[in-house]
Amino acid sequence: MLFKKPINLLIEEQKYNGENGLTRTLGPYNLIALGIGAIVGAGIFSLTGIVASENAGPAVILSFILAGVACAFCALCYAEYASMIPVAGSAYTYTYATLGEFMAWIIGWDLVLEYALASATVAVSWSSYATKLLAQLHIHLPAELTSSPFDPVKLANGTTLQGGIINLPAVFIVIVLSLVLVKGTKESATINNLLVILKISVILLFIALGWSFINTDNYSPFIPENTGEFGHFGWSGIVRGAAVVFFGFIGFDAVSTAAQEAKNPQKDMPIGIIGSLLVATILYVAFSYVMTGLAPYTAFKGDASPAATAFAVTGYHFLNSALIIAILAGYTSVILVMLLGQSRVFYSMSKDGLLPGFFSNIHPRFKTPWKSNLFFLVFVGLLAGLVPISDLGHMVSIGTLFAFSLVALGVIILRRTNPEIPRSFKVPFVPLIPILGIAVCVCLMIGLPIESWIRLFIWMAIGIIFYFLYGKKNSKLRKLHEENRTNHL
Ligand code: ALA
Repeated sequence: MLFKKPINLLIEEQKYNGENGLTRTLGPYNLIALGIGAIVGAGIFSLTGIVASENAGPAVILSFILAGVACAFCALCYAEYASMIPVAGSAYTYTYATLGEFMAWIIGWDLVLEYALASATVAVSWSSYATKLLAQLHIHLPAELTSSPFDPVKLANGTTLQGGIINLPAVFIVIVLSLVLVKGTKESATINNLLVILKISVILLFIALGWSFINTDNYSPFIPENTGEFGHFGWSGIVRGAAVVFFGFIGFDAVSTAAQEAKNPQKDMPIGIIGSLLVATILYVAFSYVMTGLAPYTAFKGDASPAATAFAVTGYHFLNSALIIAILAGYTSVILVMLLGQSRVFYSMSKDGLLPGFFSNIHPRFKTPWKSNLFFLVFVGLLAGLVPISDLGHMVSIGTLFAFSLVALGVIILRRTNPEIPRSFKVPFVPLIPILGIAVCVCLMIGLPIESWIRLFIWMAIGIIFYFLYGKKNSKLRKLHEENRTNHL
């Protein structure tokens, strides 16, 4: 269980690019765009309003800075790892080299919560905005077909059903993007680049046009007085707000899942990871500054599209439609990159024998792990179509925070066990920065509801059973060790 994958073996693997391997097509700009693609989505477009009205007021800006700094500690750790072990699989692969096979399995299984569940969660949000846009174009989808069987549905005639049938637009977007991923990484990256340009342009337009309409009275009080309850305004509200907007930063790590498809991973991976996080943080801070300056924070209470509410102040009505399109583009790229990340993690686990070979089967022409993509088309499609997503966001956060903590811990361990391996990027002040990263992640996890912890344990228990029934027996590294032992006898 404690078998560790030798780093040299990993490095050898990444040099291999034969007939059955992934192809190296991504440069530094593609990697930064991949990161921004995965990061900028629901966090900026909807959580900003929720946190401003419920937790922090205009100081949501500080919540974003706090969450950004917390993520930066972990991003630095990811960058060091990615520069020394540039192999597909991200946190899973890193953990295999440092904490051993069992912990690697745990993290790989846990990453399903981040990548697959985040894709499903964002697909459901995508569906609600797509339905809104279609309604503006006078195309009205039946309400039962845009909702899960567990969510109450209000019909056009005013009656309320206990539940819908299926969330078809959510399933639709998962199918389309999975097929794009099957077609090729380069094609997916091109589509992602276009989506990123679109969403960034609208965000910049929002900031530039909104700036001159800012009413500085809206910033006062900047930190509204605490209501007497933890997390409701005051400094505790800023901290609780940071835990919520953390969701908005998830995704920079997805860059590292594509390491095996990067042209020059040692150099470009750190650029992709840190660069995308930096760009996203700057955009978030500027966006939330303008948003809370345009309208009083109380105006965002219970508002599903706070950016539109803020922008109504300016009188530029055309921007409302542009915002919906940017939101759809933003969500689409998040789903695309998360689905990409998910298939790459399972690709690596399957290559190591911990999952069936099906997940690492590469399409002869497209050079993508197509069967894995199709498996997640079905898995994520079913989740998005049938499951109410209201509290799945918490599952995404707890799963991600767990992965981040293990990556930070791994950096400290690997500096001791393998100081000789070249690292083209090094985290400064080790072990301080990784320890701060772990501390912040654990604090944010503690802030999440108990139900998320219970679900995390259930999911992990299923994973552990699977490991003992399948992964442990089929582990290629274990077989190699056993062969070597027999040869020595
Ligand atoms: N960071 C991603 C988002 O905000 C998950 O949608």
